[in-house]
Parts: sequence; C-alpha cells; structure tokens
Amino acid sequence: MNRRQFLSVSTAVAGSVAAGISVPGFAKDSGEKLKVLVLGGRDYFGPTLINALLQAGHSVTHFNRGFTNPELFQHLQWIRGDREVRDGSGLINLKQHLKQHNYDLVVDSWQKHPMFVPPIAKLLKGHIGQYHYVSSISAYKDKNTVHIDEDYPLVDLSDSTIEDRRHTYGRAKAWSETVLFEELGDKVTTFRSHGMRSDRTPNRIYEPYWPARFLEGGTIVLPKDDNHVMQVCDVKSMIAFMLHCQHKGLSGPFNVARDTMAFSDYVQEVEKVTQTPHQKVWVPKDFLAEQGVEPYRHLPLWRPQLAGFYHININKAKQAGLVNRSVVDMVTDQLAGYLRRNPKQDFMFGGVGTISRQKERQILNAWKNATIA
Ligand SMILES: NC(=O)c1ccc[n+]([C@@H]2O[C@H](COP(=O)([O-])OP(=O)(O)OC[C@H]3O[C@@H](n4cnc5c(N)ncnc54)[C@H](OP(=O)(O)O)[C@@H]3O)[C@@H](O)[C@H]2O)c1
Repeated sequence: MNRRQFLSVSTAVAGSVAAGISVPGFAKDSGEKLKVLVLGGRDYFGPTLINALLQAGHSVTHFNRGFTNPELFQHLQWIRGDREVRDGSGLINLKQHLKQHNYDLVVDSWQKHPMFVPPIAKLLKGHIGQYHYVSSISAYKDKNTVHIDEDYPLVDLSDSTIEDRRHTYGRAKAWSETVLFEELGDKVTTFRSHGMRSDRTPNRIYEPYWPARFLEGGTIVLPKDDNHVMQVCDVKSMIAFMLHCQHKGLSGPFNVARDTMAFSDYVQEVEKVTQTPHQKVWVPKDFLAEQGVEPYRHLPLWRPQLAGFYHININKAKQAGLVNRSVVDMVTDQLAGYLRRNPKQDFMFGGVGTISRQKERQILNAWKNATIA
C-alpha cells in the first residue's frame, strides 16, 4: 500500500465519521444514544474516542483547559476547567454545568497526579451512569509473572499517601483506580491498557518503528531471539469494548490488549500492509548485544527481561466481549498517521526505543563480516 492509498483509507474513515457510517473497530451495538462527558479528550487517546462516540451517534461534551490541540472538536460542547487547581476553583464551570446536565457515561483518561481524581469523582457523583477510567497494565505491582489477570496485586500503596508529591506512573494509576472505586463503587469500569497503538502518537518522539521500517524497505535488521512474542493494545478495539461495557452495564477492572503473538507473525502482518520490497536479516540477540543493542531500549516490541510483559491475561475482557481488529487494520491506521505527520517519510529514528538507520547499517556490516569470516 502506498502513501496515497493509506491517506485515502484514513480520509474514508473521516468521511464515514461525518456521515455516521459504521467503520470496523468502532462501536456497532449502540442501540440507545448516550450523553457522554469526556474528561480531557484532545491529545492522544481522546480524539479517537470522541470520533468513535460521534460516529456511533452519541452526544459528546469535553472538559479540559483548552491548551492541548485547541483546534479539535470546536463544534462540540466544551467546558473549560482545570483539575489541578488545589482549591477546586478549576471545577466551577463543571459544577455549574451539572446543575442542568446529567451524563450516561464519563470517560476519564487522567494520567497526572492522582490527588486530582477524588474531587471530580465527588462532583460527578449522582450525575452520571457509568465512569470509565483509562488505566494501564503499569498499575500492576510488577510484570514478572505470566498471565497476569485482574486479581493480580496492584502497586503497593501502603507506603505512600495520595498526597505524596511524586508518584511513579504505575503508582499514580493504582491510586487513581483505588480512589475511584472507593468513591463511585460499581459505577466504575477501569481499562488496564497495554501499550496503545493508533493513528496518533502520545508525542512526537514516538513513531511506529516496525511499520515505518518495513514501509521504507531495503535490508532490515530484526532480533533473533527464542520465544520472542509481543502484545499491544489496539485503541479502536479498546474503544469499541468500552462502549460495549457501557451498553452491557459492565463494571470493575479489565485488562485490554490484543492476544500475545509471535513477533515473526507480527512481522508477516506488517509486510502484508507495507508491501515494499525488502530483505530481512535476523541477527542473533547475543550479536546485537555486542553491538550495543538492547531489547526494548533500542528495538521495540522486544522485552524478554519482564517475563509477563507480553503475556497479560485478557480472558476476562474477551469473555465480556472484547473483539480485537486484525493487525493489518491496526498497522494500516498507524501508518496513515505516520504518513500524515511525516509525508516525506523522513522521521529520524534512533531516539527512544529505536535504532537509527546509520546504526542499522553498522550492525549489518558487522554481521556480514562476522558471518563471512
Ligand atoms: N501511551 C500508551 O501506550 C498508554 C498505555 C496504557 C495506558 N495509557 C493511558 O492512556 C491515556 C492517554 O491519555 P491522553 O493524554 O491521550 O488523553 P486525552 O484525553 O486525549 O488528552 C489528555 C487531555 O487532558 C487534558 N488536561 C490536561 N491537564 C488538564 C487539567 N489540569 N485539567 C483539565 N484537563 C486537563 C488535556 O487538555 P488541556 O491540556 O487543554 O487541559 C487533554 O485534552 C492515559 O491515561 C495513559 O495513562 C497510555
């Protein structure tokens, strides 16, 4: 698939959103139309969520400060507010609004300090049907065990208080979930997401390394490691599942991810999407280590150090109705976003979790010399 084809896929999706036509991966079982309040909504996860909600015919109000991507969703009802003002004055507009409005569903993607979760939960109490919180598998105490399910212990909170000045990402998620369940009980559903994949990036330093690498073609270095598996979360599938949970009235925590799959199978799916001529060179992990290439630190979707990281148990969500789209659909979305942001395909890999093209050539030369010798 070339750049034009990718962009035509994403334009078709945008057009369908406007026309209210169903697109695979978005909620299909929406009978009733919901009033949804999105806390946040304009950065990484939120826009895909809001588009899915609109496409399914729901009405959306978003609450944020108006700093991040203010050009998005200007046609929707917007409540300006700031959750991080300690005296609560940043919630005044929301408080006023709730005098006249109730919501079927609140979706909250908060990932900052957990001390700002209870005030908004208290304010919303009595005004909402369900509260969906976007959590993370980082909320678990570790990833050293395979098949971590929803009963696995979260990060230990006993040696901290919610007001502590700093929390690790995982501890902040664990605190946020804990206080939400305390405050709102079975109105809360938490979605413990694996690494998210969509057509957006959480920030400009993360671009989809493997899809972009295969799109470029040429000679590609891959890690050769026994039992190399991977697991990620497809954002559109997760959102469809969130709406399904709302329709079915499901609460409590859910791990959300795709099934664990062999990395080599993932590569085959990426190849189906990109179709650029290339040659794969599987370089043994020990040789890569000699070249200074470490799993995860320098190549993504490779993390043998944490035995359970790519073996998160998603049975509960699947039994409840999680249906994952194909890898081809997920990668197609990722590449559409990559090409929108980098129309010349000139993103400089080599930053966080990736190797540069120069480093890749260096490894290839070294490997060639080692195998000829
Ligand atoms: N990246 C991954 O692979 C991954 C994996 C697992 C889970 N997750 C989770 O997925 C979620 C992604 O969230 P996102 O940031 O993309 O969500 P988002 O809802 O798209 O964006 C965050 C929103 O929060 C608003 N906001 C920030 N500070 C605020 C404040 N003080 N008061 C009110 N609103 C405020 C921002 O707008 P303003 O700045 O205009 O206020 C923005 O609209 C996070 O919870 C993350 O932990 C991510």
